[in-house]
Amino acid sequence: MIDCDSLVKIYKTDEVEVMALQGLELTIKKGELMAVIGKSGSGKSTLLNMIGGLERPTAGKLYVDGKDLFAMTDKELVEYRKHTVGFVWQKNSRNLLPYMTALENVQVPMYFDKDNKEDREARAYDLLCKVGLKEKVNSYPAQMSGGEQQRVAIAIALANNPKILLADEPTGAVDSKTSDMIQDLFRKLNEEMGITVIIVTHDISLANKVGRVVMIADGKISTEKIMKEDYRKRINDMESESFNGTDSHEEYSIMDKAHRVQISDDILEAAGIDTNKVKIQVVDGKVVISKE
Ligand SMILES: Nc1ncnc2c1ncn2[C@@H]1O[C@H](COP(=O)(O)OP(=O)(O)O)[C@@H](O)[C@H]1O
Ligand SMILES: [Mg+2]
Repeated sequence: MIDCDSLVKIYKTDEVEVMALQGLELTIKKGELMAVIGKSGSGKSTLLNMIGGLERPTAGKLYVDGKDLFAMTDKELVEYRKHTVGFVWQKNSRNLLPYMTALENVQVPMYFDKDNKEDREARAYDLLCKVGLKEKVNSYPAQMSGGEQQRVAIAIALANNPKILLADEPTGAVDSKTSDMIQDLFRKLNEEMGITVIIVTHDISLANKVGRVVMIADGKISTEKIMKEDYRKRINDMESESFNGTDSHEEYSIMDKAHRVQISDDILEAAGIDTNKVKIQVVDGKVVISKE
């Protein structure tokens, strides 16, 4: 569904150039539910905005659903944003119009398609039911809790049947219970609709519940965790509060084109490596890195 190859994004301001993505490699399959984590400023939003067609890459390759985002004209990009991707932001104010009810808000992205008014309304109603807001269809944003507003935002993002749902820190502004509810909703939508979901988050509890977690550091994917199969089975039988993700995932490091691999502080500490010169050997078919 998504293929990033040596993706580079440079922001130029008056005096400085910021290299927000520095040769990022990432492949995402259709129907994946994944999280992107990383420190502030590491390039998470830049990646999401680029996949969402809001920003253009500076160099490298970016293909989404078979389309080359580098080569798209402005007009094609507008079409792409309308039909291929749906966006959920952290701030509700960026997602919802305050003077419209939930039902009206969800119809906004549908205004430019050919459906008549009744069909639009019916579709919006279905989407609000899907996100669990059947009782709130006629409420205005100010009459809803933060979590409810965020669920309306998710319904809006789904309004044009996108193939990919992109969420930038969707649980950043809500309490942990609401956050759990929103996480479960993403999982449900992914399972029921087969939609590819990418969530940028600093919420580790959210990250532990998705199939795959990639960590961005300095504009590159540094490590990747894949959920273990037995955990995936257990997660489906459990309530969201009852599991902690310590044994949930296996961690992988991503080797870049120049064969560099980043090693986390935790692993260095566990191995007692505190110098910048290390010994690298092959022992029994394994690469062993040890203190000099
Ligand atoms: N529009 C922009 N203009 C200039 N610099 C930007 C812009 N957007 C992001 N950056 C810079 O790019 C880097 C990555 O930012 P961002 O992708 O927002 O990180 P994150 O979402 O992980 O916090 C940061 O150094 C940030 O200051
Ligand atoms: Mg960000």
